[in-house]
Amino acid sequence: MKTLSTRKNVLVLNGPNLNMLGTREPAIYGSTTLADIEAACVSHGAALDLAVTCRQSNLEGELVTWIQEARGVQAGIILNAGAYTHTSIAIPDALTAAEVPFIELHLSNVFAREEFRHHSWLSPLAKGVICGFGAKGYSLALDAMADILD
Ligand code: DQA
Repeated sequence: MKTLSTRKNVLVLNGPNLNMLGTREPAIYGSTTLADIEAACVSHGAALDLAVTCRQSNLEGELVTWIQEARGVQAGIILNAGAYTHTSIAIPDALTAAEVPFIELHLSNVFAREEFRHHSWLSPLAKGVICGFGAKGYSLALDAMADILD
């Protein structure tokens, strides 16, 4: 176990409507709340010697600002951009500008859903994509990020 100061920082960033997890369409997204997911990310991250910070916003511009601020501070980002995955150009532009490696994540299997969810502006830039494993996807993503950063 490394000391806190030598741990690599990882940002777990959630986009619009993910604050509603637990009550939002539980048949699709599960019944785990965002607070539970974030607590699990912090503790799983600590076990991997990663210092995890979690943030969520419903606003595209706020997500862009936080991605910009990650430059030189965060070693990696786990990003569930929600519906902005399929619509935003500003978020992938921010990720390119920030030069922070990121993993795209979705709780649901977006490829088994409506066609508009099949396209992502993020995937071509991502280190990898995890989708369809529900809340467990966040710990899978942290495992993958720990390997990437090793
Ligand atoms: C999502 C999938 C998106 O298509 C949707 O708009 C979301 C959540 C997921 O985690 O499965 O808000 O990113």
